[in-house]
Amino acid sequence: MRKEHSVKLHILKTLSDGEFHSGEALGQGLGISRAAIAKHVKGLNDWGVDIYRIQGRGYQLAQPLQLLNEYELVKRSVTQVELISVIDSTNQYLLERVNDSEKGRVCLAEYQAKGRGRRGRQWISPFGTNLYLSMYWRLDAGMAAAMGLSLVVGIAAVEAIESMGVRGVKLKWPNDIYYQDKKLAGILVEMSGQAGGAAHLVIGMGLNIGMPDLQSEIDQPWTTLNQVSDDLSIDRTQLAINLIDHWKVALEEYEMTGLAGFVERWNRLDNFLGRPVKLLMGPREIHGVVQGIDHQGGVVLETEKGLETYIGGEISLRKGD
Ligand code: ATP
Ligand code: BTN
Repeated sequence: MRKEHSVKLHILKTLSDGEFHSGEALGQGLGISRAAIAKHVKGLNDWGVDIYRIQGRGYQLAQPLQLLNEYELVKRSVTQVELISVIDSTNQYLLERVNDSEKGRVCLAEYQAKGRGRRGRQWISPFGTNLYLSMYWRLDAGMAAAMGLSLVVGIAAVEAIESMGVRGVKLKWPNDIYYQDKKLAGILVEMSGQAGGAAHLVIGMGLNIGMPDLQSEIDQPWTTLNQVSDDLSIDRTQLAINLIDHWKVALEEYEMTGLAGFVERWNRLDNFLGRPVKLLMGPREIHGVVQGIDHQGGVVLETEKGLETYIGGEISLRKGD
């Protein structure tokens, strides 16, 4: 780990007791000056951590931080798990390692400096409050099966969230997770596969759990799990373990029996079932009412011309008028 990262993480671990710590005491613990501490605290603001200072008392976290528990993650997960607190992108990390990874290998982070969404867009990834999780999977059936897979991981993710006692979380085709018509999580499946051979996939999910309210950079309505369930405090480590478990089981089922068993599960959770939507495909817009998904994972719309099915990675679904 880079030295400046380990200094920042040390400061955060010390502050995570919720108490005030003076710049001097923090500096002594690390063998650096008060001025250097001040500089790192400023850098921590760029990670999305809100720390303030009161003259004479020192630094304190504006919100309590509950960091992921690496020991529990490694011990209780059903696959190989690595927690890399500070990373560019968990998807990128696994994409660079597909050739020496076992199926199911997972990478988690507390902060992503270059979290990404579809088509090169940015995924806002502040430190220590949400989940950024990626899993490597190999599909021997090749690329063609990847579309269905991205629906399957969405279903499994909502079911994992439900296993924490949360209700009302939904899916937006093809692979966003919604709550009350706002984006709660996004899934990005990336591939590095040889044509004709097995497809090497990295499945990444960013799930907002305690997203701070200051994320004005996000240009669409979004929400965060701790708003969904006020009286329920979400244990991020437990949720990550459940997600990994649900993903693995669902992916194995998908490999054996395809989408057949998932169509009903999808339709129960479809945020737009029976509602008007528009599909954006480059300059084209298609209007219709959602009828669910078909056995290949396409979205079925009732349009002016009757029932039509659409499929493909370049389509965006939006609420209709
Ligand atoms: P599509 O419907 O085509 O998937 P999208 O805009 O929902 O479109 P992406 O482009 O894959 O999906 O996702 C990136 C978008 O997600 C960003 O442009 C931003 O609007 C939004 N976004 C980024 N970070 C977050 C976050 N932490 N929580 C919710 N939304 C975010
Ligand atoms: C979307 O835009 O809807 C998908 C967002 C996917 C974000 C996750 S966070 C973990 C993984 N690493 C990344 O860089 N992106 C994905």
